[in-house]
Amino acid sequence: MSTGTTTRNLFARHRRTRSSAGMRRLVRETRLSADCFMYPLFVTHGRGVREPIAPMPGCFQMSADQLGQEAREIASLGIPAVLLFGIPSQKDPMGTGAYDDAGVVQEAVRAIKDAEHELVVATDVCLCEYTDHGHCGPLDYRGEVDNDVALELLARTAVSHARAGADLVAPSAMVDGQVAAIREALDSEGHAQTPIMAYAAKYASAFFGPFRVAAESAPKFGDRRGYQMDPPNVREAMREIAADVAEGADIVMVKPALPYLDIIAAARANFDHPIAAYNVSGEYAMVKAAAANGWIDERRATLEVLTAIRRAGADIVITYHAKDAARGLE
Ligand code: PBG
Ligand code: ZN
Repeated sequence: MSTGTTTRNLFARHRRTRSSAGMRRLVRETRLSADCFMYPLFVTHGRGVREPIAPMPGCFQMSADQLGQEAREIASLGIPAVLLFGIPSQKDPMGTGAYDDAGVVQEAVRAIKDAEHELVVATDVCLCEYTDHGHCGPLDYRGEVDNDVALELLARTAVSHARAGADLVAPSAMVDGQVAAIREALDSEGHAQTPIMAYAAKYASAFFGPFRVAAESAPKFGDRRGYQMDPPNVREAMREIAADVAEGADIVMVKPALPYLDIIAAARANFDHPIAAYNVSGEYAMVKAAAANGWIDERRATLEVLTAIRRAGADIVITYHAKDAARGLE
């Protein structure tokens, strides 16, 4: 046995299948396609609004009248779904704009479904964009989110979205029991066919910063650490996902994505439900800022990030990069 020869062959063996673009395509283990993408949209009140979001270059707050054209563009890129967030004209302690049948998201759903019926319209179900204090539910006398009242208002919000034509509702408040409450309300209001994508493992993350500018939803006092998850925990995330699955979640989400690839992988190993990962605003902003400075190659970095999230085990990637990434993926 000649060790020298063996070493040389082994060396070549790793390289043989990397020798050309075609060869690399053949042995690729993870494929990125626009099919996996869900594109978030920020819908605002008024007419003719297309306001750039400073910390999220390429993203805009848009009024409902802009959404038909936007939806057609998204669909033409092969992206199957959008996720809507609303910026109401007025905020109040109970977040009434969230469950108003004439609210911003409800109007946006109708506008998109009119223009592009096949596009899957998912809606974020939370109150933080609608409350004047910026928390994800109404507050009790101690200034903490009142779980029971929040459940009822979140259920009303989900039903209102479904009534407007939403195809999928996505509760993100991290209020205990929200999935069961929404499932029950949807079923009893004639929307048994509407699936729930639960923000199951949602961490109290610094990477939501740009989103809170975009959605004008930063808490006016305190933070969300009392209801969002503590970043060091992984086993707890499995318990959160199991609870949401037991309550009837059809799709479970891990959020953020890039600093939590291990959570996505653990979720993939433990659950057979479709898994969504939210490549959040701060992750997007980092890539955009570095690219704007000429410090990284934007296209390569974007595709590498999205591929990594898929490789970790996500079926669905919710990402602000969706339109850019989809261009040229086919
Ligand atoms: C609202 C919500 C947030 C995000 C999605 N839904 C922000 C938050 O919890 O403050 C963040 C998304 C992003 O950063 O892109 N509950
Ligand atoms: Zn919220």
